[in-house]
Amino acid sequence: MLVCCNRDFRPCVTGFPGFRLSPSLPMATASPPLQSRVGFLLNLTVGENMDLLKGKKALVTGSSRGIGFEIAKAFLANGAEVWGMCTHESKNKALLEQTASENGTAFHEFYADAGNADVLTAAVKEVLAASGGFDVLVNNAGITRDGLSFRMKKEDWDSVLAVNLTSAFLVCQIVSNDMIHKKSGSIINMSSIVGLHGNGGQVNYSASKGGLIAFSKSLAKEVGGRGVRVNCIAPGFIETDMTSVLKEEYRKAMEATIPLKRAGKAEEVANAALFLASDLSVYVTGQVIGVDGGMGC
Ligand SMILES: NC(=O)c1ccc[n+]([C@@H]2O[C@H](COP(=O)([O-])OP(=O)(O)OC[C@H]3O[C@@H](n4cnc5c(N)ncnc54)[C@H](OP(=O)(O)O)[C@@H]3O)[C@@H](O)[C@H]2O)c1
Repeated sequence: MLVCCNRDFRPCVTGFPGFRLSPSLPMATASPPLQSRVGFLLNLTVGENMDLLKGKKALVTGSSRGIGFEIAKAFLANGAEVWGMCTHESKNKALLEQTASENGTAFHEFYADAGNADVLTAAVKEVLAASGGFDVLVNNAGITRDGLSFRMKKEDWDSVLAVNLTSAFLVCQIVSNDMIHKKSGSIINMSSIVGLHGNGGQVNYSASKGGLIAFSKSLAKEVGGRGVRVNCIAPGFIETDMTSVLKEEYRKAMEATIPLKRAGKAEEVANAALFLASDLSVYVTGQVIGVDGGMGC
C-alpha cells in the first residue's frame, strides 16, 4: 500500500507516492505495553527521576512545546540544569521552572529565531558563556512548510533548511568547540523518519532531516576522538501541536499503518533523548534511533 503524507506521515490528498508501508501483522492485544510491564518490575517509569543527568548542563532548542518540552522536562527530572530556547516566552516556562525546583536544579528559557543566523549565534554564545559550557545539546527546533516540489516557493525551501538544518550546524559549531576542549559531550539532533525514507509533499522538510543525519554522522567522525558523541533521533508520527491539526480520518488511517497501531507520545521521544544524553549511551555515536512504533521497519 502506498500512503502519501505531508508532515511526518500526515496522509495528504496529492496522490503522490510517499512511503511504502509494510503489511502489518495482527496486533498483540493480550499483553500490557512493554513500558508498563518493565515499570511493574522495576517500580519506576522511564524518564522519571533517576538522576541520570545529575550535575550536567543541557541546551535544548524548541523547548516550549511538544517533543522539546518533554525533553527539557525529562532532563530536569533527572537532575540536569537546562537552558531552553524558543521564539518567545512560553506557556510551559513556569511548569519547567517548577520541575527544576522540585529536582534541585534550574531551568532558564531564552529566545532566538533559529532561522536568523546572526541572532541565533549571538544568543547561543551568550548562554554558553553564562552556563560555563554544556554537557548535552539537543537541536530540536523544527518547522514544516509543506507543498509539492514543483509548486514550492523558494522561501519555503530556505526557511525550512535554515531552521531545521543550518541552525543545528551553527549551534553545534559553537557548543561542540567547547565540548571538544573539555573532551566530553553528547549532541542529539532531532531528525525524522522522513529524513530516512523521504515523503511526497515534504521535499524541503525531508531534505533538512536527511541532511541532519548526514551532518550528524560526519560530525560524529570529526569529534569522536575528542570524547564528543553525536546521534540523531528519528521520530515517526508523534502527537504534538502540529500533528493535532490533522483530520481524524487521516490520523486513523495513519495509525492503522503503524506496527504498534498508535501515534507516539512526545515523552516517548524524550526517553530516547534521555538515554542518548546520559552515560547509559557512552559507547553510542553516529547513530539514528527511530522512535516510530515500527513505521521504519
Ligand atoms: N511531531 C512529529 O510527528 C515529529 C516527527 C518527526 C520529527 N519531528 C521533529 O521533532 C522536532 C519537534 O517537533 P514538535 O512536533 O514537537 O514540534 P512543535 O510542537 O511544533 O514545536 C516546535 C518547537 O520548535 C520551536 N521553533 C520553531 N521554529 C523556531 C524558530 N524559528 N526559532 C526557534 N525555535 C523555533 C518552537 O518554538 P515556539 O513555541 O517559540 O514557536 C517549538 O518549541 C522538530 O524538529 C520536528 O521536525 C516531529
